[in-house]
Amino acid sequence: MSQERTTLIAGNWKMNGGLDEVDGLAGDLAGRMTGLTAAPGFEMAVCPPFPLLPMVASAIEESGIALGAQDCHGNEKGAHTGDVSAKLLAQVGCAYVIVGHSERRTDHGETDEQVRAKAEAAQAAGMAAIVCVGETEAERDAGRATEVVVGQVVGSVPEGATAENLVVAYEPVWAIGTGKTATPQDAQDMHAAIRASLADRFGGDTAAGIRILYGGSMKPGNAAELLALADVDGGLIGGASLVADDFWAIGQAAG
Ligand code: PGA
Repeated sequence: MSQERTTLIAGNWKMNGGLDEVDGLAGDLAGRMTGLTAAPGFEMAVCPPFPLLPMVASAIEESGIALGAQDCHGNEKGAHTGDVSAKLLAQVGCAYVIVGHSERRTDHGETDEQVRAKAEAAQAAGMAAIVCVGETEAERDAGRATEVVVGQVVGSVPEGATAENLVVAYEPVWAIGTGKTATPQDAQDMHAAIRASLADRFGGDTAAGIRILYGGSMKPGNAAELLALADVDGGLIGGASLVADDFWAIGQAAG
């Protein structure tokens, strides 16, 4: 966590949540946010499934909570059945789009090149792309974690990155939904390597402003330790983002 970067606590609902969660989760969080007597020391975002986006947008209106989507297409529009354009996501109120999540890289065979196109589309529509990277357990065991992750950053992050249009999420695949988390030292080392790679391309000043989130079994019990690391600027939270008390507690741990 650094003075110059506002900690971002983003909830990735994945393929969870239905109509009940519009008020029960998003509305609940909005109530807690608007009930604060002082400005929160962090930014909160929720990323529900596509059909819920407009309803969640209403539920969090004027709460300061940002809306995000979980994917977009790399093209502006066209014959892409089942896909959603970045422009439409911006129209319904999204400020963020998660791209390149490891579940999409695995389930849908997304490549760095496709992820980069999606990130570019999100940025062109005026949103920030949350570009996800992370190594598998086998890659870590083989001593290749940094090489793999930095390679994904180079391949998936478009040119022209700024602190406003890019967030990177480091999510070790073996830590997602498993209850395992990276050690603080491993997380800090990887975040520093990611920032160094961004600095190589975009310059030190720009890299110093780009937020790098940690994701993978972040929960109230481990959030404070992870969020205190110098180059960890927030969390991308799956399971714990579905429970208002837990997600809120992670926000509190951020400051
Ligand atoms: P998790 O998921 O918090 O359930 O591990 C994180 C993510 O995949 O974004």
